[in-house]
Amino acid sequence: MTRVLAIETSCDETSAAVLDGSGSSTALRSLVILSQDVHRVFGGVVPELASRAHLTAIEPVTRRALSEAGAELESIDVFAATRGPGLVGALLVGVGFVKALAFARQRPLVGVHHMEGHLFATSLEQADAVPPFTALLVSGGHTLLIDVEAWGHYRLLGRTRDDAAGEAFDKVAKKLGLPYPGGPHLERLAKEGRAGRVRFTRPMLRKNQAPGDPDYYDVSFSGLKTAVMNQLQTEDRRPKTEARNNNADIAYAFQDALVDTLVEKTARAAEQFRRARVVLGGGVACNRTLVNAMQERMAPLGATVYAPTARLATDNAAMIARAALYHFERGQRDGLDLNAYATLTMPGVIT
Ligand code: KG4
Ligand code: ZN
Repeated sequence: MTRVLAIETSCDETSAAVLDGSGSSTALRSLVILSQDVHRVFGGVVPELASRAHLTAIEPVTRRALSEAGAELESIDVFAATRGPGLVGALLVGVGFVKALAFARQRPLVGVHHMEGHLFATSLEQADAVPPFTALLVSGGHTLLIDVEAWGHYRLLGRTRDDAAGEAFDKVAKKLGLPYPGGPHLERLAKEGRAGRVRFTRPMLRKNQAPGDPDYYDVSFSGLKTAVMNQLQTEDRRPKTEARNNNADIAYAFQDALVDTLVEKTARAAEQFRRARVVLGGGVACNRTLVNAMQERMAPLGATVYAPTARLATDNAAMIARAALYHFERGQRDGLDLNAYATLTMPGVIT
C-alpha cells in the first residue's frame, strides 16, 4: 500500500488530499477543497490574486487534509502536485510546496498533468469508470474528447477551436446578467425556458462529416456565443407590443445547442471505437442536462455514462493523488527541478 499526499493549485481552488492505494484498489482518506472567493468581484480569475491566495491557504489546507485522514506527515510515502497546464504562478505554489515536503521527508516526488487527473476522477467513486472508455472533459479552461484505451494510453480525438464549454457558459451567463461563475446559474435559468421558442445552429455539427475530417470531433463555441448576443439584440429591438422571448428561453436554447453538440461528438467517438463506457469530467460535468442527454443518447449504443459528483468533477487534489499513484507505481520519480507549465502535453497521448 502506498500513501499519497497530493496538492492541486492550477486555477482558483486550493486543494489537498490523502489517498491510500495499490493498483486499482484505492481509498480516499481525505479531500479538502478551498474555493477562492476573491475573483467573484472581478467576474473571472485574476492570476496574481490566485497565486497569493494559494500561498495563504496551502499550509492550513494541507494540515486539514492530514488531520481529516488521521495521517501524520511521517506516514506519507509519495508527495504529488499538479505541474500543468494552468496558471503558472498558481501551479508554482503547489509544486514548490511539495518539493519542500519531499526534500524534508526524503520521499519521492511526482508531478501530474491536470487533465490526466480529470480522467481518473470518476474512478475514485465508481469502480467501473475504468478503461477502455470515451472521455469528455469539459471545464472552464478545456474541452477535450479522448479515447482512453488503457490508463496511460490516450488518443486525443477532438478539442475546442476557441472557447471551452465552461467558458461559453460563463460568458453567455454574464450577458444574461447572471453572477460568476455562470454555468450553474444558467442551467437553473434554462429550466424555466420554453423549448423550441428559440433555436441555435449546432456548431461544427454536420451530417456529411466523416472520421478523419478534423471537424468530425472538434467543437467550437464562439459562433454560438455570438448567435446568443445577436438574439438578445433582436429581442431588445422588438416593439413592446410583440411577444418577446425572454432570457430563460435564450438560456434554454443555448444550453440545448451546446449539450447537443457535445453529446453527438461523444457518441461519434464511442461508436467509432466501440466503447461501452463514457466517462465525463470537469466542472461542466455537474450539468444535469448534459448528463441526462448523454445517458439518453448512449443507451441505444449500449454504453453506460459515468459522471463524477460535483466535488470530483471540479478541480480537486484527489484526482491528482490517483494519477500520481498510477505513475509512481510505474516508476515515475521527479527531481527537485520539477517545474510548472502553463501548457503541457498529456503523457501517453497517441496521435
Ligand atoms: O473544472 P472546473 O471547476 O474548473 C476549471 O478547471 O475550469 O470548471 C469550472 C467551470 C465553470 O466554467 C463553470 O461555470 C462550469 O464549470 N460549471 C457548469 C456547471 N457547474 C459548473 N457549467 C454548466 N452547468 C453547470 N451546472
Ligand atoms: Zn480542471
